[in-house]
Amino acid sequence: MTHDMLLALAKEALKNAYAPYSRFTVGAALLCTDGTVYTGCNIENAAFSPTVCAERVAFFKAVSDGKRDFTAIAIVNGNGTPCSPCGVCRQVMAEFCAPDFTVVLENNGAPAAYPLAELLPHSFAL
Ligand code: THU
Repeated sequence: MTHDMLLALAKEALKNAYAPYSRFTVGAALLCTDGTVYTGCNIENAAFSPTVCAERVAFFKAVSDGKRDFTAIAIVNGNGTPCSPCGVCRQVMAEFCAPDFTVVLENNGAPAAYPLAELLPHSFAL
């Protein structure tokens, strides 16, 4: 699974985004180490705080299916600019992923990859 392929799956997931309040649509595609892919989109709510980001939808779908080992996640938004994950999603990634887990964004049509350790150094842990 190339980074380009994972970005393409994230773009497909973007089509299901429910973002009537922000109009900022996001899609994510999470690659498990066993090769399976879980997608997610952002899902907003009139009360705002129940809104869930695309990345967490993908992670929670996978974890609730029993997946625990992850390789990479691709994230895109509807306006084509790089979509760096929010702090809450980074912490969720840190819960389940090794420091070398790869976050793939799209920058000017090309994949840009970052290790999780670079995006969230000193993550919280119990
Ligand atoms: N959002 C995501 O889905 N992922 C991110 O990494 C950043 C933000 C969503 C949440 C909300 O629906 C909209 O984008 C604007 O914040």
